[in-house]
Amino acid sequence: MSAPLLEVRGLAKRFGSLRALDGVDLTVPHGGLTALIGPNGAGKTTAFGCIAGAQRPSGGSIRFEGIEIAGAAYHRVARLGLVRTYQVVQPFAEMTVLDAVTVGALLRRPRVASARDFAATTIDALGLGAKSATIARSLTIADKKRLELARALATEPRLLLLDEVMAGLTPTECAAAVELLRTIVARGITIVMVEHVMEVLMPLADHVVVLATGRVIFDGSPSDAVNDPGVIEAYLGRP
Ligand SMILES: Nc1ncnc2c1ncn2[C@@H]1O[C@H](COP(=O)(O)OP(=O)(O)O)[C@@H](O)[C@H]1O
Ligand SMILES: [Mg+2]
Repeated sequence: MSAPLLEVRGLAKRFGSLRALDGVDLTVPHGGLTALIGPNGAGKTTAFGCIAGAQRPSGGSIRFEGIEIAGAAYHRVARLGLVRTYQVVQPFAEMTVLDAVTVGALLRRPRVASARDFAATTIDALGLGAKSATIARSLTIADKKRLELARALATEPRLLLLDEVMAGLTPTECAAAVELLRTIVARGITIVMVEHVMEVLMPLADHVVVLATGRVIFDGSPSDAVNDPGVIEAYLGRP
């Protein structure tokens, strides 16, 4: 049997006395979409930070295709094929859309001309083609989210961690984003997605993991998740 795409065991992250992640286990198979849900402050973004190499875990193991990556640098993890998007889009604010996506494409295409070509193709595929020369900062929220996705896709990932890419989108924009995510999964890219809109997630997810105060309280199918008393109490049942 081949290793799962991602296998996280006992992942811990402390900020001083706060246990933001308190022994998280997470297994992501090859293919499909896993939803990571839970109340604000549950540790979802911190988990992404640790898995994608932006934050050093306090403990635990993270294996990507059997390779231990806990504590590895972001660029090494990205080169292996694991990238995340950011909940708050920041670092590329002063760049044009094309330049920001080219930064992603340079990971596998060291020649700038070839990276720019690939970035342009990726931008077109996400419907941002008309905004190639726009400065990222002045994009609408929906387009900023699309830019984040384009930048991540330009690295040609095997596993994509998406942190609230739907937040702030109108229902129409959400529907377009859902279609986009379906085509990404159909291309064989595995997605783990943090999202709050259950109506969006449930039809899209193959697998649901629920975090609350740094621990996994549910791991199973979407239909079981919405009927689980612990999930309802910790997350779904809140006003
Ligand atoms: N850099 C940090 N320093 C201190 N505490 C942090 C830091 N990042 C996150 N936290 C805390 O860790 C917990 C989990 O945060 P986060 O991972 O952002 O949750 P979520 O994404 O599920 O809303 C929260 O209590 C948050 O305040
Ligand atoms: Mg978060």
